[in-house]
Amino acid sequence: MKENEIKKIYKKKINQLIKHNQLYFQKNKPNISDADYDKLKREIFELEIKYKYLNDKNSPRFSLGFAPSKHFKKEKHRIPMLSLSNTFDRNDLENFQKKIFNFLNIKNNIDLEYSVEPKIDGISASLTYLNGKLTYGLSRGDGKEGELITENLKTISDIPKEVTDSDFPDDIDIRGEVFIKNNDFQKIEDKFANPRNAASGSLRQKNPEEVKKIPLNFIAYTYGYFKNNKFKKQSELIKSLKKWGFKTSEYNSVIKGVDNLIKNHEKFEKNRFKLDYDVDGLVYKLNDFSLQERLGFVANAPRWATAHKFSAENAFSKVVDIAIQVGRTGALTPVAKIKPVNVGGVIVSNATLHNEDEIKRKDIRIGDTVKIERAGDVIPHVISVDLSKRNKQSKKYFFPKQCPSCGSKIIKEYNSQTKKYDAVKRCTSEGYICEKMAIEKIKHFVSKEALNIDGLGKKVVEKFWDLKLIRLPQHIFELNYDKIEKLDGWGKLSVSNLNYAINKSKKITLDKFIFSLGIRHIGKENAKLISYYIKNIQNLTIISSNYNFDNFLNIDGIGETQINSLKKFFSNKTNAEVIKKLSKFINIIKDDINLDGKLNNKTFMITGKLSGVSRAEVKSLIEKNSGKILSSVTKKLNYLIVGDKPTTRKVTLAKDLKIQVVNQKEFEKMLN
Ligand code: IVH
Repeated sequence: MKENEIKKIYKKKINQLIKHNQLYFQKNKPNISDADYDKLKREIFELEIKYKYLNDKNSPRFSLGFAPSKHFKKEKHRIPMLSLSNTFDRNDLENFQKKIFNFLNIKNNIDLEYSVEPKIDGISASLTYLNGKLTYGLSRGDGKEGELITENLKTISDIPKEVTDSDFPDDIDIRGEVFIKNNDFQKIEDKFANPRNAASGSLRQKNPEEVKKIPLNFIAYTYGYFKNNKFKKQSELIKSLKKWGFKTSEYNSVIKGVDNLIKNHEKFEKNRFKLDYDVDGLVYKLNDFSLQERLGFVANAPRWATAHKFSAENAFSKVVDIAIQVGRTGALTPVAKIKPVNVGGVIVSNATLHNEDEIKRKDIRIGDTVKIERAGDVIPHVISVDLSKRNKQSKKYFFPKQCPSCGSKIIKEYNSQTKKYDAVKRCTSEGYICEKMAIEKIKHFVSKEALNIDGLGKKVVEKFWDLKLIRLPQHIFELNYDKIEKLDGWGKLSVSNLNYAINKSKKITLDKFIFSLGIRHIGKENAKLISYYIKNIQNLTIISSNYNFDNFLNIDGIGETQINSLKKFFSNKTNAEVIKKLSKFINIIKDDINLDGKLNNKTFMITGKLSGVSRAEVKSLIEKNSGKILSSVTKKLNYLIVGDKPTTRKVTLAKDLKIQVVNQKEFEKMLN
């Protein structure tokens, strides 16, 4: 049979599978027997094994035994489930520590103590115990809201359904990792791409009876909500977790100082394959809970913990093509399209080439055999070319001179800080002129961290774009649902789910909305700072090219780079128009952070150097106690905290405006 005939047969089977998944999961109306469903899946696997080029993303190999169910109820985590920053080497680790020293304003010659734990590559879950009983269990979800999968979690024998120890807290969330052991995975290897997918797929199946069939494990490593936490150290908590009947890792340890961390990492990495489950690094958590508390978190990762990843796994494959990806901010990233290859359990068909210079340096050409590396969840990349396998006729690769999407000029930007040109080339168009950039902007707009629209993933955005259903972000709120319902793979239920998710997303905090606009250099933290300053969406709609952007310079944390980017963004007519249109749909809500702290309704500003604490920590303290930081001395300011060598102008102005001027001691008293 010819290749395209095989592909056709394969695609047909994949489409049938998609249809049956939808009937089963979204409409709850299967019209195929379990045996026939399994047969269909088997046929797909057999084709894939025989013809290696068959590689559809919807293959059950990549997703799950079944598609993830949309049937689970969502529930807010009482305390968000954070992620971890990554570190790869000594340098990263030292930087990680330096930030801790700076934040705590302590000398960097002490050896901090860490709880060191293997980072099991599974999926995390949160278990709520009320009066000793496992009452409900959630998946991580987006970190704020998870899926209620209590019954499925209860099938895991490592998870105690009841804890009777007298010192077990009355109300606590226990968190840990759900995973599958490698030898169990081998038995179902044909169904899943890797053990992690197997665990995730199994856990999110609709029927707990199905979950039981795959042996899942659970290792506990932290807590979420915890009434009256009396523990002083992470290592003490782990000991108690074990005593209470939870499984904890036998490889947990307490280690002081970076040198020892690195020695331990080297040793552990060598032995990691002896473990019966995948571990992709070691987690380091500052052992002292009071230090953790002081450090808090930035964006969605704690300042007090990091994941020290193991080095990568690699494999060889052939470069079939070099494609140029256009990012949301115009960055052009060359990507090697390679013959699909299994790199440590994950099928890889794309590997980043980073930028033009990298291609030149390594002289990577189409047709070359290259070494691919993949480390944990980091994007796979090309390490080197196997020159012995190079075809003599192969030609050097030349980077395009224009944006491959819109034909605009491409440039390398000059970085005034490093005094060098960036390595990245960028498309110079702004707004939504460049098709690829526009699609990426919309993907960002609806993504988890932004509007968080369930059911509007990257593939769906691309499909809607192809069908001309969307061109600009506001079109998300004007979708033609009748048309969507008739599309392949869609139906009444999925359309109503999408409609629901879109309507829900209209309620959003101002900082998230600003972040969702995808302005270059305005990440989550900067968006937050701007939102305090801008206050409401109307104020955003009036910003245009003649706005005095220097106003933003008053915001502590916003610098020249951000201002230039804001200027460029708001001077573009389409961007301004998009915000205006969006403001008609969007309903800005207040952040649901706690409002009952001691400093609620109070505003603060700091000038001068404080002793013993960093400015960052004071700010985070104020916010933790529900106070607000202002960026300039205005009538709205309640307290000006004055440290050593303050800006006299600010103090004088504050006194003129009859604002309370307090020193560090007085401020600390306010907090007790
Ligand atoms: S602590 C600070 N401890 O890693 C809170 N996470 O990237 C973060 N993980 O979602 C969680 N082993 O799935 C923590 N000993 C461990 C862990 C661990 C694996 C996973 C977990 C989390 C992800 C963070």
